[in-house]
Amino acid sequence: MKKILIINGPNLNLLGKREPEIYGRLTLADIENEIKKLATELKVEVSFFRSNHEGEIVDAIGKSKDNCDGIIINPAAYTHTSVAIRDALAAVDVPAIEVHISNVYSREEFRHNSFIAPVCIGQIAGLGIDGYLFALKKLSSI
Ligand code: DQA
Repeated sequence: MKKILIINGPNLNLLGKREPEIYGRLTLADIENEIKKLATELKVEVSFFRSNHEGEIVDAIGKSKDNCDGIIINPAAYTHTSVAIRDALAAVDVPAIEVHISNVYSREEFRHNSFIAPVCIGQIAGLGIDGYLFALKKLSSI
């Protein structure tokens, strides 16, 4: 059975309450439940990691090298700042998809750059929770 790791970065624990006009009203627990349902259908195993700390995210990616077949990552604000997370993904060479709930390209200019996208097989932005579900479908099929 394929194993997919879902990583969520800073402040995504506040989903549901955080700027709902941008991020919607679903909580992270709601999103994880929908991912689990789809994982059962697709017959893949999912695990979740969430942190506000860059180094912890780097550690989680590093540990995934030998026990994971794909990574879905919403690096949140670290998308636009973190060379360390980018290097971690490049180092483990596990196929990864970057997901953003909001359309970062229709927002402030500083959100238009991603340090992470060039080391991912693709990026999905602006589709809300569906971004995670599409990413899971894709990773389960490669
Ligand atoms: C986000 C977009 C980022 O720019 C922002 O810093 C986040 C959430 C999103 O899912 O839309 O925290 O990654």
